[in-house]
Amino acid sequence: MKFFIDTADINDIKEATAMGIIDGVTTNPSLVAKVGRSFREVLLEICDVVDGPVSAEVVSETAEGMMKEARELAALRDNIVVKIPLIAEGLKATRMCSEEGIKTNVTLCFSATQALLAAKAGATYISPFVGRLDDQSGDGMAMVADICDIYENYGFTTEVLVASVRHPMHVLEAAKMGAHVATCPLSVLLQLTKHPLTESGLAKFLKDWEKVPK
Ligand code: E4P
Repeated sequence: MKFFIDTADINDIKEATAMGIIDGVTTNPSLVAKVGRSFREVLLEICDVVDGPVSAEVVSETAEGMMKEARELAALRDNIVVKIPLIAEGLKATRMCSEEGIKTNVTLCFSATQALLAAKAGATYISPFVGRLDDQSGDGMAMVADICDIYENYGFTTEVLVASVRHPMHVLEAAKMGAHVATCPLSVLLQLTKHPLTESGLAKFLKDWEKVPK
């Protein structure tokens, strides 16, 4: 299973990368707005730190506008993946990107049938937002299970990129379902490292070590 970090904060990206577990990065307009710097500047800095796929989102609402942005973004670096919203215009742009060899991450997916359309349009990745669906009394992980089944049924090569991850159980369930990628904020990645028995066990080892003659 691949781990992407879901942030535009270069310090978080460097910290997670140093743990040796990061395969890529996802950003979105809200995450970029938080860092308060130019999109292009932030994106290039991220690409300097991470070799793997780096998702950068378009903000146009027409296929034509999305394609203009997609071509500009894809020309910046080889590892840039263009993030496109799952609306009808977005599907048109996804198909055109696929035909032009531009990698895509179709985002804001909240149903398995939307995911089916994204795969048919040739998406490289589909991003089901599990946390936001859970927030609306939906079942984000049930959606991911359905997407994995549907893609398996028809042999789609679109990778399932579980997004809007809020806690380690989302990651555990995604891994059990065979989702290809989970994109997580640094806070969730750090939560995944923790177990109270690891902490108490380490504290005991270090205390006992003090008794060892030096
Ligand atoms: C995914 O690519 C999105 O950037 C992200 O996972 C959204 O997460 P949120 O629901 O926590 O904003």
